[in-house]
Amino acid sequence: MKDFIRIRGVSKHFGDFVAVDEVDLDIAKGELFSILGGSGCGKTTLLRMLAGFETPTSGTIEIDGTDVTYQAPYDRPVNMMFQSYAIFPHMSVEKNIAYGLRKEKVAIADIDRRVDETLELVQLGDFRKRKPDQLSGGQRQRVALARALIKRPKVLLLDEPLAALDKKLRERTQFELMNIQDELGITFVVVTHDQEEAMTLSTRIAVMDKGRFLQIGTPLEIYEYPSGKFVADFIGTINKFNGTVKSVHEDSIVIECVETGASLAALGKHEVDVGQFVCVAVRPEKIFVGKHKPDNDDDNMMQGVVDDLGYLGNRSLYRIRLADGKIVLVSSQNRRRSAKRFLEWDDEVWISWRPRSAVVLLD
Ligand SMILES: Nc1ncnc2c1ncn2[C@@H]1O[C@H](COP(=O)(O)OP(=O)(O)O)[C@@H](O)[C@H]1O
Ligand SMILES: [Mg+2]
Repeated sequence: MKDFIRIRGVSKHFGDFVAVDEVDLDIAKGELFSILGGSGCGKTTLLRMLAGFETPTSGTIEIDGTDVTYQAPYDRPVNMMFQSYAIFPHMSVEKNIAYGLRKEKVAIADIDRRVDETLELVQLGDFRKRKPDQLSGGQRQRVALARALIKRPKVLLLDEPLAALDKKLRERTQFELMNIQDELGITFVVVTHDQEEAMTLSTRIAVMDKGRFLQIGTPLEIYEYPSGKFVADFIGTINKFNGTVKSVHEDSIVIECVETGASLAALGKHEVDVGQFVCVAVRPEKIFVGKHKPDNDDDNMMQGVVDDLGYLGNRSLYRIRLADGKIVLVSSQNRRRSAKRFLEWDDEVWISWRPRSAVVLLD
């Protein structure tokens, strides 16, 4: 993987406040890379430094082999699509899309051809004569995208591109965005606070908090092997069991769970000491629930009662209350069709999971 964007030790201070704190990041050509984090964690500031609207307090940014740290925005092979879609209300769709090329005095015939191509790409050919107020939110979003794409940047920066769309439209637009990116091979850097969006869209994700990256990885890596509690909680749902390390073996450890009194085994090589405080984390879909004691003695198991349940068609969600009151979330696929529910409220149940399904978190 050749690094196309190289960010080294980049910080941004506003007075005493550190918005971006010594960030390192490599993005390969053609990636659809997401920067994911809560509001105020520094995502937009980082993107603005990539675009050239903000100068880093320290560090360097390289794009396609050139140091662009102090380059003006228009000298960079980069275009940015803003959080609020900057489209002109008095101009038609095609005029909006052509605007950037007209300003650059590109030949009219070339402009017309590229507008046609871009309209087709974002599937707005039938709407070319309309004004923005005659378009839906999703269509306006595609006009803004077309405006950014027509200049054929090597890198397209998108700041919360889908935030203004409702859920159904957002899901559809996610796939359109992925198709367009795939077709053009442009490197996309997307900023979002929406973990589902990041998971769906991205080749890789950087999870950001307080100006720093906590983890950089593929959606699968970040979901299955979160580096710490923050990432584990931020992406999806996870059950956490606090405990102390009871014994350390070649490729597993045993944890005495403080809350439930149970002994929990976790597979894997872990750099921990006996007596150390750790957290065992298990995703709801990795936990089995049933009325009978599981017969595999190697599994981690506990008893509880069904505190609440939800039927979602393809799967059911259970809240299982353990003896000491701790609630464990379990998600189970509904494989068999049946008019009768498999479990009911207040049923006494066993929950269990395989030692390899747990993640041990140290911070
Ligand atoms: N020009 C600025 N002056 C002072 N503080 C700023 C400025 N721009 C951003 N900040 C602060 O930096 C932090 C990160 O902002 P931002 O990058 O916009 O966050 P995000 O996009 O992740 O929500 C926020 O606390 C914000 O108030
Ligand atoms: Mg922002």
